[in-house]
Amino acid sequence: MKKLFQGEEIVHGAKILGDMMKKSASTVVLTGAGMDTESNIPDFRGKNGLWRNMNPMLVASIDNFYNNYDEFHDYYTTRIKRLEDVKPHEGHYILADFEKRGIIKSIATQNVSGLHHMAGSNSVYELHGNIKRAVCNSCRREASLDDFLNKQKCQHCGDLLRPAVVLFGEALPRDMWSLAEKDIKNCDLLIVIGTSLEVYPVNQFPRMARGRIALINNEDLSYGREFDIKLIGRAKEVLQELSRNV
Ligand code: APR
Repeated sequence: MKKLFQGEEIVHGAKILGDMMKKSASTVVLTGAGMDTESNIPDFRGKNGLWRNMNPMLVASIDNFYNNYDEFHDYYTTRIKRLEDVKPHEGHYILADFEKRGIIKSIATQNVSGLHHMAGSNSVYELHGNIKRAVCNSCRREASLDDFLNKQKCQHCGDLLRPAVVLFGEALPRDMWSLAEKDIKNCDLLIVIGTSLEVYPVNQFPRMARGRIALINNEDLSYGREFDIKLIGRAKEVLQELSRNV
């Protein structure tokens, strides 16, 4: 059976994936930065990615937080300010509608933008945290984003504040990980949207899926496990086509 659909073939590929979704008793979605680029948030490793001219391991790392707080703070201030008037695009709303209609069970996301929640999705596992929230690095109490932006210290313990995101060199939030792992291990279908699958440990999920796996991405990916179907195109337009078939 043909597995890769692009260009005009997306119409046919979306029919096949739509049928797989209708037959699936439990469908889970895994999203990455490619889900947000059509909301004007650059991805990391795509052609205009954020990491094209900087090394994430250096900038967005816990080491950089400790050793160069000013650079760390500047980098996240830029990213937070860039998100101020960012909105979900139609693809986010389609996924929220799929949840409402019981077509998908949950979304595990690597994105920290909060756009899935803003579009109305409820069952969302933010595996890398949320950049719109700030916490104290020591006592982990929530702080206001403005306090972080103004370089205020924690009101409870006096330590430095940071966005509530997972930095390179840190573990993922255990609760989010186990919720996503349980859903993905037990799903009939995992749909992977807009991720290079280059970052561990989230890139392990597609090989952990019990059921079939589908890719929606604007570039083809070679991955340790064969995708059952690949729709190579922009997330919004593929999801629009898919929504005509479920
Ligand atoms: N539609 C479909 N795919 C897209 C689109 C789009 N509109 N725009 C970009 N893509 C694809 C890119 O071609 C690339 O394959 O989405 C993928 C994005 O990959 P990355 O930039 O590596 O983003 P992601 O996989 O989410 O990165 C994982 O790395 O830097 C860390 O914490 C950061 O969560 C991030 C993690």
